[in-house]
Amino acid sequence: MIKPPAKRRKPGPALLAWYDANRRDLPWRAQPGERADPYAVWLSEIMLQQTTVVTVKGYFENFLSRWPTVEALAAAPLEEVLAAWAGLGYYARARNLHACARKVANEHGGAFPDSEAALLALPGVGPYTAAAVASIAFDKPCAAVDGNVERVITRLYAIETPARQAKPLIREKVEALLPPARAGDFAQGLMDLGATVCTPRAPNCGACPWGADCAAFAARAQEAYPVKEKKAEKPKRRGAIFILRRGEETLLSRRPEKGLFGGMSAFPATPFTQDVAPEEQLDHAPCKAEWRALPEPVAHVFTHFALTATVFVGQAKEAPPLGANCRWAARRNLDREGLPTLMRKAALLAGLI
Ligand code: ADE
Repeated sequence: MIKPPAKRRKPGPALLAWYDANRRDLPWRAQPGERADPYAVWLSEIMLQQTTVVTVKGYFENFLSRWPTVEALAAAPLEEVLAAWAGLGYYARARNLHACARKVANEHGGAFPDSEAALLALPGVGPYTAAAVASIAFDKPCAAVDGNVERVITRLYAIETPARQAKPLIREKVEALLPPARAGDFAQGLMDLGATVCTPRAPNCGACPWGADCAAFAARAQEAYPVKEKKAEKPKRRGAIFILRRGEETLLSRRPEKGLFGGMSAFPATPFTQDVAPEEQLDHAPCKAEWRALPEPVAHVFTHFALTATVFVGQAKEAPPLGANCRWAARRNLDREGLPTLMRKAALLAGLI
């Protein structure tokens, strides 16, 4: 008898089954079938913002043993909370943590609200944390989307838009995947999948419960997602560098203290703080000479602009009139003058080093 093809499980239940078999044992997690303590869930989520699971474990256990309830944390002096937080970074988070505990203790009778909207109104609770607490602590069908989840979802659907712009779409996709029950386990399963299987590098697609559904895996292009945002192109500028030679010496000038290459030795040049059109470049030469442009310009990318500079080489007449900051440098020492990279590139191009 021909066996019917195995029925493929829907993605939501498939993830839950994977989570049941592979869930990480973390100190803030309820045991299977047990209800999570909203205070512990909230505390862990605040600590996990921008900090790794490994670092958070010890802090979490210390906080929970010192302040086992939200009322206890609310009653603690802020200084003590800040001291216990030391090492987790971002002290605004610790201040918000304390303010949030006070608000829950004083305005919510010590019980965390169970809706995403009410959680969002608490100090230090953003869209991700509100959804994470609502789902993990209260089993509300909310989409908690952090960086790990963005990676999983952009791969699953081969989303070509960079994650920052695709956030609403990613959220929609997660909402569509939510199973009818166990929203908290689904959220944590998604987090664990992102952290242990669908990793940024070398994801273990063979072990993924969504391997057969994953558009990126089908194209064997897992690591191409999330698509990186194109960096804004830097403004382009043009300029020129003047290499004046006198026998085995070249002219260097000391740059003004303020501004690009402040105080460094460099070949004389046009300003680089503005675009200098080719026909104006020779107006900035250090002296009259027969300037010859090298066939190739030098290119260099600075923090705020990309420069293409023509390199002019000239031979000095007997005693050209030169600026006060100028000096002749022996060619054999040029390599040790500590020239800025752009100037080194020009010297290389001119065959001086
Ligand atoms: N990262 C952020 N929240 C987490 C959680 N609840 N479990 C595992 N990793 C997480």
